[in-house]
Amino acid sequence: MPKILVATVKPFAPVAVEQIKKIVEEAGYDFALLEKYEDAEELKRAVADVNALIVRSDKITSEIINAAPKLKIVVRAGAGYDNIDLKAATEKGVVVMNTPGQNSNAVAELVLGMMVYLARNQFNGKPGTELKGKTLGLHAYGHVGKRVAEIAKGFGMPLYAFDPFIPKEIIEKDGVEAVPSVEELYATCQYVSLHIPANEKTIKSINYELMSRMPQNAVLVNTARKEIIDEEGLLKMFAERPDFKYISDIAPDCAAEIGEKYPGRFFFTPKKMGAQTAEANINAGIAAAKQIVNFFEKGDRTFQVNK
Ligand code: 3PG
Repeated sequence: MPKILVATVKPFAPVAVEQIKKIVEEAGYDFALLEKYEDAEELKRAVADVNALIVRSDKITSEIINAAPKLKIVVRAGAGYDNIDLKAATEKGVVVMNTPGQNSNAVAELVLGMMVYLARNQFNGKPGTELKGKTLGLHAYGHVGKRVAEIAKGFGMPLYAFDPFIPKEIIEKDGVEAVPSVEELYATCQYVSLHIPANEKTIKSINYELMSRMPQNAVLVNTARKEIIDEEGLLKMFAERPDFKYISDIAPDCAAEIGEKYPGRFFFTPKKMGAQTAEANINAGIAAAKQIVNFFEKGDRTFQVNK
């Protein structure tokens, strides 16, 4: 009988854990839980006899995979799988999946929430600005970008998107203008919201050259990954453009310098919070558990990312 381990440094909401456990046990499998573990050694010990693993942003390195000789599948309950060593998993014949779309509403709500928070001067009592009528650019139009567009429409923001992988007609059907180049997106939009993954092509790709194209009172919103930002370029933007602001779901490495020099022009969540809602945990957790059961029972590999 397969043993499924939920291993999360940042735990799911208890209600989500209950539902994952129920699916696993109803399938007749063993359920194990490891939350808030201290280090890789603890995770290595816990994976020694498991057949399947459900994780969040937990680092699944080759060391962890090698410590799990019975492992057949890892499901990242969420969208980005840059925390998993796909090469090591593939070499060991371990299937890796994500659960696309399951936590996107939570991330999208945080985007707009943080935008309002900064536009209103972090609720310090001084007059702020409104989002209505301000241009919003979506850098990538996947599940999160599309959901941000739906919500931002209610705020009355003119919407633009750049996504080379999604046909123009699909984007424009949603009332969002598809722009032909990333440069044009940044040049057009006062707000730009990032929804690209972190990989060898995108790491440090949001650089000064791109950011400096943004119009006056530019606000860059990052609920993707801190690694996609070129922090040298970010600091240059802060120094040269007193109108520029940066909002990020997780602080950049240069947060202390920004905090010291540019008060009021940034907001960073203390911990990655995009998917930290009960609903997102339930959706992604249930999807992960079901994908594992379908994999063992029917060989279903629909959401495999290391093909
Ligand atoms: C994702 O890639 O799905 C989000 O970044 C959420 O990450 P988390 O599960 O670690 O909160």
